[in-house]
Amino acid sequence: MKRGLFITFEGADGCGKTTQMKLLAEYLEKQGIPYLLTREPGGKGLGEKVREILLNYDGEVSDRCESFLFLADRAQNIDIIVTPAVEEGKIVLCDRHIDSTVAYQGYGRGLDINRINMLNDIATNGKKPDLTFVFDIDVETSMKRVGQEKDRMESAGREFHNRVRNGYLELAKQEPQRIKVIDATKSIDEIHKEVIKIFATLND
Ligand code: TYD
Repeated sequence: MKRGLFITFEGADGCGKTTQMKLLAEYLEKQGIPYLLTREPGGKGLGEKVREILLNYDGEVSDRCESFLFLADRAQNIDIIVTPAVEEGKIVLCDRHIDSTVAYQGYGRGLDINRINMLNDIATNGKKPDLTFVFDIDVETSMKRVGQEKDRMESAGREFHNRVRNGYLELAKQEPQRIKVIDATKSIDEIHKEVIKIFATLND
């Protein structure tokens, strides 16, 4: 059987990536293409528990501990969910992945990017996504979309989120083949069309 594909959805909180991932899934469904949805943190099972800690724990969490929790969840997601499905020929759509750790813990929290890359490499066994969408949005608009009910990460402040945004844009400059930036202030429908167009280039 032909190997599937691994596609990741990245961007600031409130950028609309989850909506776009679901719309691409609906498109694949209609085309009869086998797919699987997952997310980081918290694909399923143990991942759900790690997610709970990462988003809701209200005690002190060190930056390095936070990184390791995201990375532990990533290893679990890759080994238990992503790799088997890709090997079965499925298209795996994942809400957040390696670039979130570089953008949030690296650019956002200020941890060393080279070391994060190394740790990401260990967590994923060196496999990168075939395609990554970054939904780019200014901090003002994304915070408005998130609203008053903010989780631990969303409460990190404007400066932090600005660094995260710039981190994503920097990553896209470094890996233009893999990472495609989409203007997330456009309408849901316009963005979906762009996603489909870029997705179609994978088969060229
Ligand atoms: P989630 O509710 O999934 O947010 P969203 O719907 O915006 O994706 O929460 C995930 C949060 O965790 C989000 O604020 C980004 C953050 N995060 C990191 O800081 N590092 C990581 O490696 C990952 C995967 C997520």
